[in-house]
Amino acid sequence: MLLADYSLLRHNTFGFDARARYAMRIDSVEAACALARDERIAGMLQLVLGGGSNIVLTRDFDGVALIVDIAGKRVIGEDGDAWLVEAGAGENWHEFVSWTLAQGMPGLENLALIPGTVGAAPIQNIGAYGLEMGERFERLHAVELATGTRAEFDREACAFGYRDSFFKRDGRGRFMITSVVFRLPKQWTPRADYADVARALENSTKRDAQAIFDAVVAVRRAKLPDWTKLGNAGSFFKNPVIDAAAFDALKQREPDIVSYAQADGQVKLAAGWLIDRCGWKGRGIGGAAVHERQALVLVNRGGATGAQVLELAEAIKRDVLERFGVDLEMEPVCL
Ligand code: EPU
Repeated sequence: MLLADYSLLRHNTFGFDARARYAMRIDSVEAACALARDERIAGMLQLVLGGGSNIVLTRDFDGVALIVDIAGKRVIGEDGDAWLVEAGAGENWHEFVSWTLAQGMPGLENLALIPGTVGAAPIQNIGAYGLEMGERFERLHAVELATGTRAEFDREACAFGYRDSFFKRDGRGRFMITSVVFRLPKQWTPRADYADVARALENSTKRDAQAIFDAVVAVRRAKLPDWTKLGNAGSFFKNPVIDAAAFDALKQREPDIVSYAQADGQVKLAAGWLIDRCGWKGRGIGGAAVHERQALVLVNRGGATGAQVLELAEAIKRDVLERFGVDLEMEPVCL
């Protein structure tokens, strides 16, 4: 059904009241394929929306919003040392992670409570607490919007990077992801080195996947705002990576800077720390503000617009560049 003048308020976790000229709910692969032959929307701009947890809507959308609602979770088999499980793109990510644990197939527990849908997860290669989705990814199924043809992407074709993939670059706006297949190793090993998680596990004697899941949920609840109460899109900037020489110079000036050495010799900085150091925590412009407990998260305190959030982001970028000589890159997609 084609809906006209549709509010996207419930479809973006920042809670911006932008409107789409049209919207359509897509609940099957067949419906996704049929879009290319639908004369009512021919030539219109199209915006594929999952949970809307990584988008900043700065204006009304003069096109058709395609709301992905493809359901289904199943174990599709085993492949030597791993279980293969598949989920429809519209499934809620956190519920899917819980379901895999209930099946006795751990491996995604570090990614518990990340807002959004299964279909959106590969786009920015979601990651948290020592794990990136790409490490558990097998393949995905998609439909090319312009032609209505089905396509399959393996890990290589997805070109996963840090909060990055083919779908944020050359593939941007061209495909609707319809389902994702994950590869969960039968030989499970815990990932519990991340400082916050290790601390949360200190009081527990268990080290199984459920204990890690619970620890991650507790850490996220303590640090990150719940978007249903305070609109946000998670980390607003990527953690910047700089070369070793630039880092050494910076470390001289800022001895307690938080950094992580990378395998290739470069150094990743904690953007939250940089922003915090510039004094931005809790400050804002209009209804747009920097979260009080995690400076990397920008929030909608109520009544903010996407444009205000971008204005705030620009002011933060300027300060960080001026003080540290580091250029921050925005993480969510901007419309
Ligand atoms: N820090 C501060 N002040 C702040 C925020 C952070 O000093 O206001 C310091 C912390 O004390 C810590 C360091 O910065 O030493 C890193 O902070 P944290 O562990 O909270 O993680 P992050 O680097 O800010 C990243 C991801 C998050 C992910 C966490 C845990 C990015 C852009 N963000 O945040 O991902 O949950 O690590 O793995 O990589 C997201 O992408 O939306 C997201 C929430």
